[in-house]
Amino acid sequence: MNYWITFIYLLFTFSSAQDLNWWQTGAVYQIYPRSFQDSDGDGVGDLKGITSRLDYLVDIGVNTIWLSPIFKSPMADFGYDISDFLAIDPIFGTIEDYDELVREMKARDMHLVLDFVPNHSSNQHEWFQKSINMDPQYSDYYVWKDPIGYDADGNPIPPNNWLSFFGFSAWEWNEQRNQFYLHQFLKEQPDLNYRNPLVIQELKEIINFWLEKGADGFRIDAVIFLFEDPEFRDEPPSGNPNFGPDEYDSLLHIYTRNYNETYDVMRELRVVVDDFPSDVSKLILLEAYESIDLVMRYYGTAEEPIADLPFNFEYLLRFEDEVVTGTRIKDAADLWLDNMPEGKWANWVTGNHDRSRIASKVDPRLVDGVNMINLLMPGTPITYYGEEIGMINTFISYEDTQDPFGCNFGPDMYEKYSRDPERTPMQWDSSVNSGFSTAEKPWLPLNPNYLEVNVENQLMAEESHLKIYKEIINLRKELAIQTGELQYLNVDESLFSFMRVTDNPTNQNYMVLVNFGETDSVVDVSANSLVPPVATVVIKSLSSTVTVGSVLQTSAIPLGPKDSLVLSFNSNNP
Ligand code: GLC
Ligand code: MG
Repeated sequence: MNYWITFIYLLFTFSSAQDLNWWQTGAVYQIYPRSFQDSDGDGVGDLKGITSRLDYLVDIGVNTIWLSPIFKSPMADFGYDISDFLAIDPIFGTIEDYDELVREMKARDMHLVLDFVPNHSSNQHEWFQKSINMDPQYSDYYVWKDPIGYDADGNPIPPNNWLSFFGFSAWEWNEQRNQFYLHQFLKEQPDLNYRNPLVIQELKEIINFWLEKGADGFRIDAVIFLFEDPEFRDEPPSGNPNFGPDEYDSLLHIYTRNYNETYDVMRELRVVVDDFPSDVSKLILLEAYESIDLVMRYYGTAEEPIADLPFNFEYLLRFEDEVVTGTRIKDAADLWLDNMPEGKWANWVTGNHDRSRIASKVDPRLVDGVNMINLLMPGTPITYYGEEIGMINTFISYEDTQDPFGCNFGPDMYEKYSRDPERTPMQWDSSVNSGFSTAEKPWLPLNPNYLEVNVENQLMAEESHLKIYKEIINLRKELAIQTGELQYLNVDESLFSFMRVTDNPTNQNYMVLVNFGETDSVVDVSANSLVPPVATVVIKSLSSTVTVGSVLQTSAIPLGPKDSLVLSFNSNNP
């Protein structure tokens, strides 16, 4: 009898865990390839460098790598301006290096997600060169428009007032073709013309090419920018006094973003990915900084899925608010979970190559707490390289600034926009250049704190952010974390706390408590009927003074300023 109950229980556990995909039970780690590991001493990270660090990634427990673009590029936007979608840029290595990376990853049961940049190519792409020359096939690959007239000096006047995301007019004059072309990003990144079916066909071929080369998915870049108003109407001013006339946010972008057609094209690309013969399911991550309703539509429906994980930027942005509170984090989490279509899967992201590092957005003591939330809420965590050791933004002088977004605005304003501070090299150890490169001068300077904040130190230390990260990620194997229900515990201005519970008495349940506040507190979560009188500390933030393994009264959990804890408990405890 007993035997059968156990058997049925095991069958249940096994099948429910088995229903989850690799990208649901695992964790995604974003690598900015220029900054992870340089293997050939040119000061820029590369594919061989990444391959040499795979064991580190296995050790910390991530199973999925998203690589920012590695394709052939003049590097005007550091790889987001692609001149050949089917080739590896020599700065990153060769196609053989890529093959080796894939082989080594598969051998470690890891999954590779490539960055896919559909909105634009480089102006050095063969398509653009042919388009300038009005080659019949390529003439309409980009968005070309006549000037609306000429000014007194004989200069052509752009078709409308649209602005580039990186500042200044979105139109660039081309002498040879005697027309303007549209670029929603740099002038070196002409927008592809999505009203031309040939362009969509090209994209499908690119996707198939990389699927054949072993990619397990794509992160799709700048999706909202694919289509523009067919009538090219002026956009109205935003009226926001914080932005001058050349800055993107001075306009309301009602004619350049999120057309219905964009969703249709994304759906078509999803079908290409799903039609690819493979026994491994694929992952689509999608970038859209937009209002929640527009973002949710990128999930698609059960019958017609689009992205598996449109990035949860509402959550990321709450960490950039001046004040971060438990209530605001809960509101952001609920905004996502309550709006997410039936049957879809959430994600938790707090940093990337375009946004400030978490330890520079919030008090650095909160690094562990934020990782606990990202990794233990229901969904997939996405960790930007270096966040596991609590790297902070690096000050970069104007002279050293590389990011065109910063350079565009000159020495007085570059810091408002430059993304270099969050792109500096990975901090591996305390040797020269932190073990990132043997070059005299890496492409961006190392953060001077690397002597202290680095992987080697944190692996050796008794306690460290990195060791805590590894312990948290390890809990993702637990059923309560994979499929358990989410229930909030106490949430207020300072505290964010929640638990993950299964209804099976033999499983461990977990609660996470993060104190965003400045004061010592003693938290009582015992009012919840599922919470037993005592629970065991399994992970604590560096800042906390409680002892791992100690048993705490759930009516009096001590939490110092910025402390965080993970406790385990069994709901059936008397
Ligand atoms: C996305 C990328 C960003 C890039 C832009 C243009 O927003 O994340 O880094 O500059 O697209 O491709
Ligand atoms: Mg190199």
